[in-house]
Amino acid sequence: MCGIMGYVGPQQAATVLLDGLRRLEYRGYDSAGIAVANGAIAVLKAEGKIDRLQAVVDAVQPPGTIGIGHTRWATHGAPSDANAHPHTDASGKFVVVHNGIIENHQSLRDELVESGNVFTSETDTEILAHLVADAYDGDLVAAVRSVVDVAEGAYALVVMTEHEPRKIVAVRRVSPMVVGLGDGETFIASDIPAVLHRTKRFLIVEDGEMVVVDDSGVRITTIDGDPVERDVFVVDWDAGRAEKGGYEHFMLKEIYEQPAVVTETLTGRLDQDGSVWLADVTFDNDYARSLQSVWFTACGTAYHAGLVGAALFRKLLRIPTYVEYAHEMRYNEPLVGSESLTIAVSQSGETADTLAAARQARSQGSRMLALTNVVGSTLARDADDVLYTRAGPEISVASTKAYIAMLVAEYLIALRIGRVRGDVDKDLAAEIALGLNQLPGLLEEVLAREDAAIAAAEQIVDASDVYYLGRGLDYAVAMEGSLKLKEVSYLHSEAMPAGELKHGTLALITEGVPIIAVATQRALYDKTMSAVSEVKARGAHVIAVAYDDDVSIDREAHTVLRIPTAPDLIGPIVAAVPLQLVAYHVARMRGHDIDQPRNLAKSVTVE
Ligand code: F6R
Repeated sequence: MCGIMGYVGPQQAATVLLDGLRRLEYRGYDSAGIAVANGAIAVLKAEGKIDRLQAVVDAVQPPGTIGIGHTRWATHGAPSDANAHPHTDASGKFVVVHNGIIENHQSLRDELVESGNVFTSETDTEILAHLVADAYDGDLVAAVRSVVDVAEGAYALVVMTEHEPRKIVAVRRVSPMVVGLGDGETFIASDIPAVLHRTKRFLIVEDGEMVVVDDSGVRITTIDGDPVERDVFVVDWDAGRAEKGGYEHFMLKEIYEQPAVVTETLTGRLDQDGSVWLADVTFDNDYARSLQSVWFTACGTAYHAGLVGAALFRKLLRIPTYVEYAHEMRYNEPLVGSESLTIAVSQSGETADTLAAARQARSQGSRMLALTNVVGSTLARDADDVLYTRAGPEISVASTKAYIAMLVAEYLIALRIGRVRGDVDKDLAAEIALGLNQLPGLLEEVLAREDAAIAAAEQIVDASDVYYLGRGLDYAVAMEGSLKLKEVSYLHSEAMPAGELKHGTLALITEGVPIIAVATQRALYDKTMSAVSEVKARGAHVIAVAYDDDVSIDREAHTVLRIPTAPDLIGPIVAAVPLQLVAYHVARMRGHDIDQPRNLAKSVTVE
């Protein structure tokens, strides 16, 4: 997630901005920049770490006590000096930083190019600078307002102009923003830690609000200009906790970000009728129709996302679909070829095994689609098609929000292919679209039930082994629940298809052994419950994940983690969240270093 800064006050802005940007580093970024106004506006930016930007700033030492700054995490256009923020219009008199996504950026860019504007970057942000300049008629607030009216999407935006040299205008549309109140100075930031060492007094900017900062202070209005009264929020967190948005760990923060992540993943890509637009998935309809097989390849959590994808593709598209661990696929002489689509799934886009498997598939003639979170990653650069998950940087080693974003993205690909091939008819497409659009709300409801996950965690915290069961899509989700528990709690666990139990593992089920059964697939419900009866008969302690409207589950399970009722195709995504929460709380109860589990790294770049 990008970081935003703004400053109006008596100090040298460059120093304040760089210091704030350093304190936002934890959010992840690939380039950074500042703009400082002193009559004229100086824009300084650099790809890479803030030390590179610092060197540029030290060389120039731009004077001025008002400015804006940004750390960028690429979404449109690879990380580069040119794509780093701030962006300006052609005159250089209007300067903009921005966080989030402008949904209709392509059509806005086309119009601007047609009317003679020349672009110097690939970003959606630059559009905003041109639009503000075009709209400016002596009033920056009015110009920004008119731009917000046409720029669709979820974003935060901060603007400055030489024409009104002591003013900053900022807008929040979904993406977070706070105002720090200093003594004779005001700060704008995307997050409290940027300026927490300078002030404890904040105004939290709400969705749909505009902020105007000048030497007289700060004014908050609605975007339409109606004044807003906001109480000062006094922060008593330390800096470490503030980075985590008040959560104890990044893992929990990222679990709570999931509803917003789903919205980002879907933004501008899915219509109510199930039509899908995926800008960098460029294969044509003939190709989609000619497909004979699909291969998912990935490692770890991304592999589990592949399991869900494969189950979904088989169910919806009736195409033979395979999932291979990337490290196995490389040596398994896979029968992938020119009639296959290979979908390589990787949060980082840098996992060595996944890169190698994807390259091998391409060398055998397969088209390769990268499903990744990191713009410009090696996997994205290697790919024929790319679908970015837009989960934002994930800091906890244990993946949560990136996984959920991968699942949502897989539904989008399935819809894209299924509509063309005719496997997904209009009604089903609309039903899936409805389910996906409802997903953020469903996830919010699950998060509101965290206490139930804490109670379940208490029941397994002292166990030595935990078994996860599910069938079909539920099995894929059970695999991920089990991995999550292993990673952060160091408890041994295994997941298996519920029907497999009696073929061996049942021998391990004795009095008190915890079983977590996922039961969202109505067609397979009775089958899953037969396995639950088998383990109960051996004394197992059963925790089930089941819908609110499941009236029989209380008879089957000792504890039920209820999730809001959802269609079968969407339920498994919802069910993943209580499993993440259980894993998190078991690890917390066991006192582990949750964000940095022992022996694990965030990105595995060696074979
Ligand atoms: C588990 C986890 C790992 C990764 C795996 C692949 O929480 O994060 O299992 O999923 O190392 O990483 P990416 O997705 O970056 O290829």
